[in-house]
Amino acid sequence: MDLEDLPGVGPAIAEKLRDGGFNSLEAIAVASPAELVSAAEIGEATAAKIINAARVAADIGGFETGDKILERRREVGKLKTSSKSLDDLLGGGLETRAITEFYGEFGSGKTQIAHQLAVNVQLPPEKGGLNGSVVIIDTENTFRPERIQNMAEGAGLEYAGVLQNIHIARAYNSNHQILLVDRAEKLAEELKETEKPVRLLIIDSATAHFRSEYVGRGTLADRQQKINKHLHDALRFGDLNNAVVMITNQVQVRPDAFFGDPTRPIGGHIVGHTATFRIYLRKSKGEKRIARLVDSPNLPEAEAVFSVTGPGIRD
Ligand SMILES: Nc1ncnc2c1ncn2[C@@H]1O[C@H](COP(=O)(O)OP(=O)(O)O)[C@@H](O)[C@H]1O
Ligand SMILES: [Mg+2]
Repeated sequence: MDLEDLPGVGPAIAEKLRDGGFNSLEAIAVASPAELVSAAEIGEATAAKIINAARVAADIGGFETGDKILERRREVGKLKTSSKSLDDLLGGGLETRAITEFYGEFGSGKTQIAHQLAVNVQLPPEKGGLNGSVVIIDTENTFRPERIQNMAEGAGLEYAGVLQNIHIARAYNSNHQILLVDRAEKLAEELKETEKPVRLLIIDSATAHFRSEYVGRGTLADRQQKINKHLHDALRFGDLNNAVVMITNQVQVRPDAFFGDPTRPIGGHIVGHTATFRIYLRKSKGEKRIARLVDSPNLPEAEAVFSVTGPGIRD
């Protein structure tokens, strides 16, 4: 069944929906009416009708029994980090169909972990990968092919081939960044039946543009709303592609904090509610880093030590 088979969807509306990243029945089924209204310039009632029909067609929505959910949980893949202690902290690796957020100060290792995951995702499952390719949305221009080379060699992979499965886009501002998730969905659709479907989406950093563009209290609500939408788009990407979504986030210093750690992640509770796993990174001695699992639906709060080394992330 095609988009055009949905009631009220002609070729023109189908085209607009696809342009907006709604290129499958599943994507429409999990959209909100407001999202379709702005993507396809249709009325709210039409949007609701289209979504309902897509839900029936894609067999999405309504209640499910626990065993069905367990069955789907079995499809969840785990992507390893090359540090056993970090993997253990995460219950075996980064889960697909969820957002894992790494937040921490400058130099704490967020981008290094992103590079490592971009290599590891290409490995077969028995070696900790997902046999897939990766899409990276790079907002700070910190992607370095040289580091991929170090890490590919460290993982026993051929460098040139590894680079071909890494799809990178520079995001120039927050709107561009939001748009790139739509583009990523299109790319994932194209690669779905290939040998290396997209199994990892990295947004490094997810919040930097938002932080620099929205200054002052008046625009804060607007900023939070945009971050919220962006993260939900990312989560949808993870769901539709059974992919890992890894995002990074900086911390900002709270000048009014007298007790405890005076830093907190940007985007605060908006990011916190959408990210399924949150990991706080701190620098320690030399190449050592401390990771703290802050929030997880099924794992205890705990800490792990790992290292950033020449050939990559290690214990
Ligand atoms: N080739 C390398 N070998 C060893 N350590 C490295 C190498 N490249 C970067 N690092 C380490 O990674 C740190 C940068 O981490 P990064 O992930 O970029 O931080 P951020 O959290 O700001 O993204 C550097 O300060 C350095 O300690
Ligand atoms: Mg970085």
